[in-house]
Amino acid sequence: MHIPSEGLSKSEVLRRVEAAREHDWPWREGKLFAYVFEAGPEVEEVGKQAYMAYLTENGLDPTTFPSLLKFENDLVDMARRHLGGDERVVGNFTSGGTESILLAVQTARDWFRARRPGVRPQMLVPITAHAAFHKAAHYFDVDTVIVDVDPETFRADPAAMKAAISDRTMLLVASACSYAHGVVDPVTEIAALAKERGLLCHVDGCMGGFMLPYFQRLGAAVPAFDFRVPGVTSMSMDFHKYGLCPKGASVVLYASEELRKFQIYACSEWTGYTMINNTIQSSKSGGPLAAAWAVLNHLGEDGYTRIAKDLLAARDALVAGIDATPGLRMLGRPDMSMVGFTSDEISVFALSDELKARGWHVQVQLAHGPSKENIHMTINPGNTRWIADFVAELPRAVEAVRAAGGGPTPPKELAALLAQQIESDPSGEGLKNVVASVVGSGGQVPGKMAEVNALLNELPRKVQEKMLVAFVGQMFTPRSEG
Ligand SMILES: Cc1ncc(COP(=O)(O)O)c(C=O)c1O
Repeated sequence: MHIPSEGLSKSEVLRRVEAAREHDWPWREGKLFAYVFEAGPEVEEVGKQAYMAYLTENGLDPTTFPSLLKFENDLVDMARRHLGGDERVVGNFTSGGTESILLAVQTARDWFRARRPGVRPQMLVPITAHAAFHKAAHYFDVDTVIVDVDPETFRADPAAMKAAISDRTMLLVASACSYAHGVVDPVTEIAALAKERGLLCHVDGCMGGFMLPYFQRLGAAVPAFDFRVPGVTSMSMDFHKYGLCPKGASVVLYASEELRKFQIYACSEWTGYTMINNTIQSSKSGGPLAAAWAVLNHLGEDGYTRIAKDLLAARDALVAGIDATPGLRMLGRPDMSMVGFTSDEISVFALSDELKARGWHVQVQLAHGPSKENIHMTINPGNTRWIADFVAELPRAVEAVRAAGGGPTPPKELAALLAQQIESDPSGEGLKNVVASVVGSGGQVPGKMAEVNALLNELPRKVQEKMLVAFVGQMFTPRSEG
């Protein structure tokens, strides 16, 4: 598209903006079990209005906009109290879980470098920890040691973590909770190990950090995971997930300023304004910050507790429904309102397509390590009203897949052939054709994904990654419309 030679009217351009949603998933219906966290129209309105009120203010300079400084310090204070931290705990508001994790890893790296100059740092990452830790390692040139987890519970294994520690280890990672299976790692044991060896321990509470304290207060048996656990030195927690705030809202917290100081970046090596950044972003809208402040104050402890009760009931009903469906099997027992389940009888990829055709959007997760390919569902408050219907429909969807032959059989031979082709294609030219033959050209995701997922599931990880990079490259290439 060109920038139009003459600008469009406000009404016309806003009409086109709305019309552009035509093919988006209708999340307001409450049948999308991923990506969106919503607590109804009133909370949405509070977030939106606060967001728009601070849309244009710039978080680059808190001395010009002290309101943003106040919002940030208030949010960090609320977060550290919520996570059992004392007044020594400090932190910053970030744009999301990934930024919080990137910062925690960069801070650990620079803490380590100050102690052990010239030694290449390494962090221990359970196989179930979020991909953002691998991204951080990639960006900040840190080595990762991937550590096995318990194959039944999918919780990190402290003995395996202990065995993996080397003299280059800087950081031990634990999740509260993990994305794929919704389980909390044994943080007490992992943090104790870090403390004993003088290492750092980051607890990723991006998914669970906000809601799990309410689950605990409601009597759910959630393992200890926050700053009350000795040895926890940093945490990440997202407001834009179970804090139910508009996106662009997370927090990274450190046990003390001694550690956080490695995160703050100042630069005087240029001719411009004084540059001090707490986070990766520099100029940033005040919108997400004001919105998070507003939503937390609007919902309050009573509002979140009410929501937590509904989520727990929905989670228990969903797990019971999966347990009761012949042919399905839970992967682990979630502490959070998130589930992963698989099947030894039918293709979960075909089941995902079948559910989609019936109006339910669930997520597929490919096989990795002890985690067989599975269907993941994150329950958000907007989904809870549908759980009974979903549980009633699930066995019917399974039977429909079974009746249609059970879905694609794993295409092992084709996968081996493609892997060989891709690995012997250093220029990457052939890869384009392979991607086009698998998912079609034009960068469009096909409606039915079972065959594509079944193939991806059989490819070696490095080949999978290459294909996904090529696919996304194609998807994000503008197609000229003349
Ligand atoms: C456990 C966990 N950590 C980190 C992240 C990354 O968060 P974001 O998508 O906000 O960058 C996620 C996202 O789902 C997550 O589940």
